[in-house]
Amino acid sequence: MKILVTGGAGYIGSHAVVELHQAGYQPVIIDDFSNSEESALAGIEAILGVAVPLYRIDCADEAALRSVFAAEPDIAGVIHFAAFKAVGESVQKPLAYFQNNVGSLLTLLAVMKEFGVENLVFSSSCTVYGIPDALPVTEATPTKPASSPYGRTKQMCEDLIRDVSAAPDNTLHTILLRYFNPIGAHASAKIGELPLGVPNNLVPFITQTAAGMREKLTIYGNDYDTPDGTNVRDYIHVVDLAKAHVVAVQRLLDRKASEPVETFNVGTGHGNTVLEVVQAFEQASGQKLNYSIGPRRPGDVPAIYADATKAEQVLGFKTETSLVDSLASAWKWQQTL
Ligand code: UFG
Repeated sequence: MKILVTGGAGYIGSHAVVELHQAGYQPVIIDDFSNSEESALAGIEAILGVAVPLYRIDCADEAALRSVFAAEPDIAGVIHFAAFKAVGESVQKPLAYFQNNVGSLLTLLAVMKEFGVENLVFSSSCTVYGIPDALPVTEATPTKPASSPYGRTKQMCEDLIRDVSAAPDNTLHTILLRYFNPIGAHASAKIGELPLGVPNNLVPFITQTAAGMREKLTIYGNDYDTPDGTNVRDYIHVVDLAKAHVVAVQRLLDRKASEPVETFNVGTGHGNTVLEVVQAFEQASGQKLNYSIGPRRPGDVPAIYADATKAEQVLGFKTETSLVDSLASAWKWQQTL
């Protein structure tokens, strides 16, 4: 079964390509390398022992996308990772985020329809919940105003898919996966996260600090209403997250979905504070981390973590990797860079 993976050279995409192939699927990658590196392809090949077909195109380029579907006539489904993902940058360049994230989905849906491809797994985010009233969040937790244009693009894409799927002649079947915070790297350390420039995200900042590339980590606030005052997030190992895509694809292909659009939280079900992550990293790496407490980062949600019950009961999906092991894999990867 051939699965088109947009953004397949990116952080989560590259891990999903590996898991898909190892589960017996034939992944085909689309990537424009705007926020990914060629080296990810070499890493994938080193793990799998074969090269995965790649089309170097922008997913929002309709003619180019059509040519991929024409060249690959038997695509069974699409996993759409390709998107911009930096929260802060989205505040600076909102138009680029709407054009890229919403535009590429619109283009993809039109081309999928034209070629009769009916199965889609979409990369959504826990950011759609905004600042939730109660924790943990379930899939039924109401979405709140997003704290950034990036978050808004994910809400818009979800809405767009629901509207398209409500049409009387709809044939699209979609699983929306709402990711919590992906961290870590493949156990082989041949693929992992490759942040461009100074990392925005916590774990690459931590590993770069431990590697001596950054002087210290600044923790963005310790005066939140959380156990130790720092933000709470649900950190999921990227390989666990990648496996959720394989399960979702299988469910779509088996026509087991109960409705045209199904939504699943993909997290561990546990929240950890930033300080707990720092401590877990120190345990995983055997090193002390240089950090200090700074001011709050605008737009940060005080606390969010998943209720992972639905994914477990309906998809049979459960995360396997502990926080310490996830951080150990991130550290192992960092040391190869
Ligand atoms: N943090 C620090 N110092 C840093 C970086 C992060 O203290 O240098 C803290 C943040 O304040 C936050 C936690 O670490 O409490 C995690 O921050 P990340 O930036 O790693 O991730 P976010 O929780 O902010 O997640 C957001 C969106 C996701 C999106 C993700 C990727 O909510 O949807 O960024 O950019 F996928």
